[in-house]
Amino acid sequence: MSLFQKNYSIANVFDKRADAVVALDDSLRFTKTLPDNFFRLIISSPPYNIGKVYEKQVSIEDYLKQIDPLLKELVRVLARDGSFCWQVGNYVNDGEIYPLDMFFYHQFKSLGLQLRNRIVWHFDHGLHASHRFSGRYETLLWFTKTNDYIFNLDPVRVPSKYPGKTHFKGEKKGLPSGNPLGKNPSDFWTLLQKEWDCSTWEFPNVKANHPEKMNHPCQFPIELVERCVLSMTDEGDWVYDPFMGSGSATVAALKHNRKAIGVDYLPEYVELTKKRIGLLGSGELRIRPIGKPIHQPTGQEKISQRPPLWQEPIAQLI
Ligand SMILES: C[S@@+](CC[C@H](N)C(=O)[O-])C[C@H]1O[C@@H](n2cnc3c(N)ncnc32)[C@H](O)[C@@H]1O
Repeated sequence: MSLFQKNYSIANVFDKRADAVVALDDSLRFTKTLPDNFFRLIISSPPYNIGKVYEKQVSIEDYLKQIDPLLKELVRVLARDGSFCWQVGNYVNDGEIYPLDMFFYHQFKSLGLQLRNRIVWHFDHGLHASHRFSGRYETLLWFTKTNDYIFNLDPVRVPSKYPGKTHFKGEKKGLPSGNPLGKNPSDFWTLLQKEWDCSTWEFPNVKANHPEKMNHPCQFPIELVERCVLSMTDEGDWVYDPFMGSGSATVAALKHNRKAIGVDYLPEYVELTKKRIGLLGSGELRIRPIGKPIHQPTGQEKISQRPPLWQEPIAQLI
C-alpha cells in the first residue's frame, strides 16, 4: 500500500462539488446536461464501428451522421481555451480501411475547431493481417477551440538526445543550446525505439500482460492521457471523456489533481471506473509508471529463437 491515500468523492450526475462524476447514460443525453464552456480538456476514443461488444455496426455514412449531434454538444461544453483530443484508428469494411481521423477532421473543422497536432501513436502488437500490412498505429487529433489555449510543455519534456550540444557561434557560443528540462516529445509516440534513444514518448498498448489491463477490450494506456492532461490543463481543471470505458481518462485526470467526468452506457464499465478510482485513492491501482522503458528482448529468450522446425533455408519455406 502506498502512502498516497485520497478518498475521491464520486457523483452519478453533474455536480461541481465532486472530485469526479461517473455517469451511467448515453453520451449525447448526458452531455446535454453539462454547462457551456466548462472543460479544459475533452479526451476520448469513440467506438470505431468495428463490431465490438459495445457497438452496433452501421455504414460509415450512418456512423458519422449518428455521432454528429454529440460532437456539436462537445464543442459547446469545451472551454474557449480548451483542448479536444480524439483518438481513433480504422473502420474496416470488407478488407477496405477507412482511417477515421480523415473523416472526423472535416467534421471538427466544420464545427470551427483548429487542429494543433495529428499525433501518431505507434505500437508493436495487434492482429497480423494477411492481405495488407498489419496496422501498427492509431492517431490522436488534438484540436483547440481558439488560438488562445493552454500548452504546458515543461511537464512532458523528454531527455534530449545530445544534451551537451552547444551554440557554435554568436554571443551564446559555447553555451548549451538545448533546454535543461529536455526537449519537445514530438507528435510521434512510439514504443519501437533504439536503446539509446529515449527522445520520444513510448508506451505499449494495453494488451493481456499490461499491468493496467482490465475487463475492457480497448483501454487507453493511462500514460497516453497523462501526457495530454499535463500539457493541456492546469491543476483543478475539469477533464471529460464521453466514451469513458474503463475510466482511464478519469484516473489520469484525478492522478494529477484535476477533476474528471466520464459517461458510459454500460453498467459494467461504470462500475469498473468507480473501482479504479477507488484503487487510485488507496494507492493500489496498477499503473505503468510514466516514462518506464519498454521491455527489450535480449534475443536469448526461448520465445526469441527460431523454432527447430524452421531451420530450413527461408527459400524452401516460401
Ligand atoms: C473505445 S471504448 C473507450 C475506452 C476507453 N478509452 C478506456 O480507456 O477504457 C468506447 C466506450 O464507449 C461506450 N459507448 C459507446 N457508445 C456509447 C454511447 N452512445 N453512450 C455512452 N457510452 C457509449 C462503450 O461502452 C465503450 O466502453
